[in-house]
Amino acid sequence: MFVQPDLGRGNAVNTGKTSSNVVWHHHGITREDREELLGHRGVTVWFTGLSGSGKSTIADMLASRLHDRGVLTAVLDGDNVRHGLNGDLGFSPGDRKENIRRIAEVAKLFTSFGIVNILAFISPYREDRDFARLIQGEDDFIEVYVKVPLEVAEKRDPKGLYKKARRGEISSFTGISAPYEEPLSPEMVLETAESTPGECADRLVSLLEERGIIGSGRR
Ligand code: ADX
Repeated sequence: MFVQPDLGRGNAVNTGKTSSNVVWHHHGITREDREELLGHRGVTVWFTGLSGSGKSTIADMLASRLHDRGVLTAVLDGDNVRHGLNGDLGFSPGDRKENIRRIAEVAKLFTSFGIVNILAFISPYREDRDFARLIQGEDDFIEVYVKVPLEVAEKRDPKGLYKKARRGEISSFTGISAPYEEPLSPEMVLETAESTPGECADRLVSLLEERGIIGSGRR
């Protein structure tokens, strides 16, 4: 069995089907070289939570704050990635698993380029999030639970999807007709019924500083 080599400080782990006769090529410029160039570390900040919890809003605010400090970020969310890379996937447990696996692999590559990845996916299954953590590597993975009571998310209903789900027009809708498994020990919990998106983004910036991923100055 082929085991993908460590791309930086991540895990060496085989996470999918591997083609035969493929040999890993080591490139000359390393992760450390890129991080030195950028002046910060790569990492994956993984938001999980119900649709309408505020994941994408906080992700955008965090990206803006980091960008203003000279940090290179990438924001990926379910709605956008499902238009392209994962456009072939639906919302069965198996398709959600594959959605998360592909995104985690993309994030792992980006992390190895020194990028601060900000990912906003419902990622409702604990097992899938744990797998994403395994792919990325413990040191490079920050799980953030964007927590909101279902009633609040349903009242916000920014895309009108909860109403459709209640009318039975969308099947397997998370929180209504499909499960959401709360994280057991996320690195951070953001309660969006109680804090503004800006306050949540500020807490995340502080966490990245405390962990030495970004500096406390411009970077
Ligand atoms: S995940 O469960 O596989 O992680 P993902 O974050 O990629 O989901 O996509 C969720 C987005 O797809 C939601 O914000 C919503 O706009 C849309 N969506 C469409 N159908 C569903 C569904 N059945 N369950 C949840 N979200 C859905």
